[in-house]
Amino acid sequence: MFNLRRLLRLSNRSFLAFIFFFSMSTTCLYFIYVAPGIANTYFFMVQAQGIMLRDNVRTIGQMIRLYTNKNSTLNGTDYPDGNNSSEYVVQPTTYLPENFTYSVNLPCPERLPSMKGPMEVNMTEFPLEELEIKFKQLGIQYGGHWRPTDCQPRWKVAFLIPFRNRLEHLPILLLHLTPMLQRQRLQFAFYIIEQTGTQPFNRAMLFNVGFREAMKDLDWDCLVFHDVDHLAENDRNYYGCTNMPRHFAAKLDKYMYILPYNEFFGGVSGLTVEQFRKINGFPNAFWGWGGEDDDLWNRVHYAGYNVTRPEGELGKYKSIPHHHRGEVQFLGRYKLLRYSKERQHLDGLNNLNYTPEVSISSFYKNISVNLHPELAPIADY
Ligand SMILES: *[C@@H]1O[C@H](CO)[C@@H](O)[C@H](O)[C@H]1NC(C)=O
Ligand SMILES: *[C@@H]1O[C@H](CO)[C@@H](O)[C@H](O)[C@H]1NC(C)=O
Ligand SMILES: *[C@@H]1O[C@H](CO)[C@@H](O)[C@H](O)[C@H]1NC(C)=O
Ligand SMILES: *[C@@H]1O[C@H](CO)[C@@H](O)[C@H](O)[C@H]1NC(C)=O
Ligand SMILES: *[C@@H]1O[C@H](CO)[C@@H](O)[C@H](O)[C@H]1NC(C)=O
Ligand SMILES: *[C@@H]1O[C@H](CO)[C@@H](O)[C@H](O)[C@H]1NC(C)=O
Ligand SMILES: *[C@@H]1O[C@H](CO)[C@@H](O)[C@H](O)[C@H]1NC(C)=O
Ligand SMILES: *[C@@H]1O[C@H](CO)[C@@H](O)[C@H](O)[C@H]1NC(C)=O
Repeated sequence: MFNLRRLLRLSNRSFLAFIFFFSMSTTCLYFIYVAPGIANTYFFMVQAQGIMLRDNVRTIGQMIRLYTNKNSTLNGTDYPDGNNSSEYVVQPTTYLPENFTYSVNLPCPERLPSMKGPMEVNMTEFPLEELEIKFKQLGIQYGGHWRPTDCQPRWKVAFLIPFRNRLEHLPILLLHLTPMLQRQRLQFAFYIIEQTGTQPFNRAMLFNVGFREAMKDLDWDCLVFHDVDHLAENDRNYYGCTNMPRHFAAKLDKYMYILPYNEFFGGVSGLTVEQFRKINGFPNAFWGWGGEDDDLWNRVHYAGYNVTRPEGELGKYKSIPHHHRGEVQFLGRYKLLRYSKERQHLDGLNNLNYTPEVSISSFYKNISVNLHPELAPIADY
């Protein structure tokens, strides 16, 4: 009798412990699925501390030391080894003078007098119809296409913008980008790749689809992978490609303008068509938020490239606050990231099937596609 009571008390206690841990873990899950914003920030911290991503991830601590200790320099990126922390960078003085004359037969320079530096970021929402008038004024052709006429564009850039449920952001982004790209005298067009269906958002696969579709239009030589809610703050952040993959969005306002971790490759990035083919594109296996950009980073490095970033102030971006809840997290990403190398040549541009619905408007080419995992079969490794 006594023993039984003791046993009961004991199991009572372990039952309480069970309840405690159960509610702890459901609270965690609750945050991941219901408050992805908070969870995302947390995961960035975790990633930044190198717990799961890659063994050579720099820690947040190092980042903070970097930005407070004026002595140290960041290896591998072209940040200034500044006197005056990250906030003050002398603008390069090598931009061409106002009176520079263009030549129709020569390539457009990269450092044009029209590129003035810091830009206003206007996040006021306005309807797509209003954009029509503005695009006419700017001389934008069907499909959001434009090319300079007073010199030969140095790069033909396809802007690939993955999309779902963010219609109010599109006009803001397009109106912000267009005058900037014209000042940079790039040839460009916009491709909106919209995911339909009920599967979690697959940003990476949308980029692969966008790439395949864009290459049917024109021999683009440079690809910019652009999130719809990121707005550049400086028009000297040149959207052409380089001989190395480029990470344009180095400093986001939502991360207090600090690179969250050295391998961060999200937001806005750019590769030449040749580089993109060589790395077999993005992985298709990342369903939901997170990880695909880290995998791209790995692919780029396994292919022997290093990522470059704009210097200092040039890489600043503002992000449009979201109206509705974000997409679900992809919790399987850490496992996939461990096998980046093995998957690189199995999963990407070469195993992708899809049936798009394509239409074209004055603003962009709309590639609407229903994605599901069977479209990118992958043999086991
Ligand atoms: C800062 O740089 C000076 C000169 O290079 C060096 O002597 C000193 O040890 C450095 N301090 C730290 C904290 O790295
Ligand atoms: C950068 O890294 C290379 C190789 O890892 C190393 O040799 C070099 O000293 C580093 N430079 C600085 C400034 O830390
Ligand atoms: C930092 O700025 C001061 C004042 O402009 C200058 O004298 C000094 O040489 C600078 N130091 C470095 C390391 O650039
Ligand atoms: C440091 O930055 C501030 C603005 O952020 C600037 O006014 C000042 O001249 C800079 N100092 C040096 C020594 O570069
Ligand atoms: C252009 O302006 C610079 C000064 O900004 C001047 O030295 C140069 O002579 C000008 N060139 C022409 C062709 O006007
Ligand atoms: C911001 O954009 C809206 C919509 O296009 C426009 O009405 C407003 O005047 C702009 N504000 C500024 C400060 O340019
Ligand atoms: C990339 O960076 C590493 C270390 O800084 C260097 O050893 C390597 O040569 C670089 N690769 C290329 C292709 O520049
Ligand atoms: C793209 O086209 C689909 C139909 O094919 C349409 O439902 C969707 O609203 C369009 N998206 C955009 C952003 O224009």
